[in-house]
Amino acid sequence: MSFTRLHCFFMSGTGNTRRVAQWLAAVARARGLETQLAEVESARRAKLAPPENGDLFGVLMPTHGFTAPWPVIRFALRAPRGRSAAAFVVATRAGTKLGRFFLPGLEGTACYLVALILALKGWRVRGVLGLDMPSNWIAAHPGLNGACVAAIITKAHPTAEKFLGDILDGHRRFGAGSWVSLTLGLVLLQISLGYLLMGRFFLARLFFANNRCTSCGLCACNCPFGALKMRGRKPQRPYWTFACESCMRCMGFCPEGAIEAGHSWAIALYFAITAPFAWWLLKAGAQAACWPAPIAGSRALFWLQYPFSLLALAVAYAGFWLLVRVRWINELFTLTTFTHRWRRYHEPGTTLKALVDEHR
Ligand SMILES: Cc1cc2nc3c(=O)[nH]c(=O)nc-3n(C[C@H](O)[C@H](O)[C@H](O)COP(=O)(O)O)c2cc1C
Repeated sequence: MSFTRLHCFFMSGTGNTRRVAQWLAAVARARGLETQLAEVESARRAKLAPPENGDLFGVLMPTHGFTAPWPVIRFALRAPRGRSAAAFVVATRAGTKLGRFFLPGLEGTACYLVALILALKGWRVRGVLGLDMPSNWIAAHPGLNGACVAAIITKAHPTAEKFLGDILDGHRRFGAGSWVSLTLGLVLLQISLGYLLMGRFFLARLFFANNRCTSCGLCACNCPFGALKMRGRKPQRPYWTFACESCMRCMGFCPEGAIEAGHSWAIALYFAITAPFAWWLLKAGAQAACWPAPIAGSRALFWLQYPFSLLALAVAYAGFWLLVRVRWINELFTLTTFTHRWRRYHEPGTTLKALVDEHR
């Protein structure tokens, strides 16, 4: 099997996945292949052409909630038919290092979900890889220190190169580790579904700009999903819409470190979407035997509660956004979030300009 072109389509919030795509492109170029790197969103908008002879197609993504992020699933669903052309899938995941020990992340169903969609569309999937890069989930934990970051990236580089080298040599790469991850991913499927249906919307409703924000608008201009809007009377402030995927680009690259994920606000928001009216109404309805028996079960309640929760998220966030425009309230939420004290992270060799401009 000989390849003449490598097309890598990637999603990357803080640059890890783009870095891996660049490593793969370098391997391909060294073997005389033409290479093309593009972000999934711009590739989707530009409508991909069907593959030609000699094409190798790679889809690369960060893992979110033990599965593939929604924009990547959507990209795979809308990809052209594969006509038996070759493809591979890579999910970067949250590597960490404790003392001398490297701890792996878990990509769960991410790789095989995208591989399955591609296979159903007629692509011949040649391999999948879950690759540890430094964890970028800085809304949930402090960014790793420079030495850990460097060690994890140094370890990942040859693994990525070998993976593509093997595929270019005609081998299949479905390592035992990928099956273990898939099995664990299936065990954790409820969490992944919960994340896709609700978690990412909830997380996106935690972000706010603290009083250090200079209204420069960099976060809004450079969001890969166009999910941030600068809103309000001057000084304008970023507003996170439902299109946010919590990719951490805004938080990781804000030059003032002004973007926070409100942890105290998260608690209030949780009660705002679960406790009130709809819950009471559904419970009261079930007790009065107005609902058929299955509706009283919690799963059915979840589905009845779902539209209410989304609406409550939107309304509560709009209120929160107005509140944090008041200086002292903003200060209060800033002081009661861990992110205010935590180190930020983006892939060390990646600038915001390179991340945004080079792949449109
Ligand atoms: C919201 C969110 C959820 C994440 N979920 C997982 C996960 O389930 N498993 C994992 O190993 N890493 C997880 N991560 C870590 C990222 O997948 C990982 O750091 C990735 O390399 C980031 O790539 P990027 O810089 O290209 O966006 C998560 C990160 C974020 C921001």
